[in-house]
Amino acid sequence: MKIKIALTKGDGIGPEVVNEGIKILKTICDYTDLDIQFEEAPAGGNVWKETGESLPKKSVEIIKNSDALLFGAIGLPDIPQGVAESAILRLRQELDLYINLRPIKLYDSMKEQSPLKEEYIGKGIDFTIIRENTEGLYANIGGFLKDDVAINSMVYTKKGCERIIRYAYEFAKLHKHSKITSVDKANVIKPSQMWRNIFQTIGNDYPNLEQENYYIDAFCQWIIRKPYAFETVVTGNLFGDIISDEAAFLVGSLGMASSGNIHPGKVSMYEPIHGSAPDIAGKGIANPIGTILSIKLMMEESIKQPDIGKKIEKAVEISLNEARTKDISNNKLKILSTSHMGDLIAEKLKQELKL
Ligand code: NAD
Ligand code: IPM
Ligand code: MN
Repeated sequence: MKIKIALTKGDGIGPEVVNEGIKILKTICDYTDLDIQFEEAPAGGNVWKETGESLPKKSVEIIKNSDALLFGAIGLPDIPQGVAESAILRLRQELDLYINLRPIKLYDSMKEQSPLKEEYIGKGIDFTIIRENTEGLYANIGGFLKDDVAINSMVYTKKGCERIIRYAYEFAKLHKHSKITSVDKANVIKPSQMWRNIFQTIGNDYPNLEQENYYIDAFCQWIIRKPYAFETVVTGNLFGDIISDEAAFLVGSLGMASSGNIHPGKVSMYEPIHGSAPDIAGKGIANPIGTILSIKLMMEESIKQPDIGKKIEKAVEISLNEARTKDISNNKLKILSTSHMGDLIAEKLKQELKL
């Protein structure tokens, strides 16, 4: 089967982790009947420096003509704020990627890596944050009045809330979860009040799912205090952005967490949740697992090859028993560079695919 994958390597550690993602995709190509063609679609700070555009038209065209986009990370410390980042936001809008799927899973071998005490880890951490990805404070409604006033409006629409909340209920049902958790700030913010009403109304169609609501501030402590208690967590754009980085560190490192920016049936974008990490860029120590697990999501959601997805995750788990990148190192296992970690996972994947 012929597949076109667009690649946005981006800035900082972006190219370092995407190169490891490409290794995984090439391994899939070598050992399955998927025939993957790659095409680069530059975006971010470096391309802005060269061309004055952080998302060139040509890149958008390449992405729109592909089956999926693998995205690294963008952002440079020496350019104006928001210039590079606007490329991601524009892609989410132009492709209407209203679902941001962010799985958070603590692998057994990573338990001692978690900053949490055993009693808080409990029966284990395995939940998915479903972040609304096109509205809220990211709706890009606002601006500056000279240098004195800056405004962004938090916009939630009924349609926008309904489609992400409905998706989350269906996700919980599909994965046979017993509970769905909604996170908002309905005690203060009007859009959250509408959100909570819609969560309750749609919930009437899912009487077998336990439904619970938390305020975002308290949820930030519950996610540390009883992370084992959550399964599907649905929330607005900014809240989802924040809790996903917090949650990623609970399972080892920001470098471990994956994401899919998805519109079912349309070109979707897969990326680690971390940024361009200027503090470690160029050192060859970035953790490529968030990117590799994003390819797992790509295989499941866009390429419709869930078995390959499972094998990618298995290859990651097996590799974590043998070696680590610096951010998740312990004193028992050897420490590998970004590229050697990618080699190890690709080798394990090869063995899984040959089975
Ligand atoms: P960051 O995620 O880049 O880094 C935060 C910390 O986590 C740093 O100490 C970094 O070294 C570490 N880290 C991140 N990824 C890692 C990995 N794969 N392996 C090991 N350690 C890792 O966040 P930041 O420093 O706040 O942002 C830097 C830039 O990235 C900013 O310009 C920001 O806007 C941008 N950003 C981009 C994306 C994206 O492209 N999707 C996401 C978040 C932030
Ligand atoms: C993320 C990032 C982006 C966001 C930035 C870079 C625009 O932090 O994908 O989590 O805020 O959504
Ligand atoms: Mn973020």
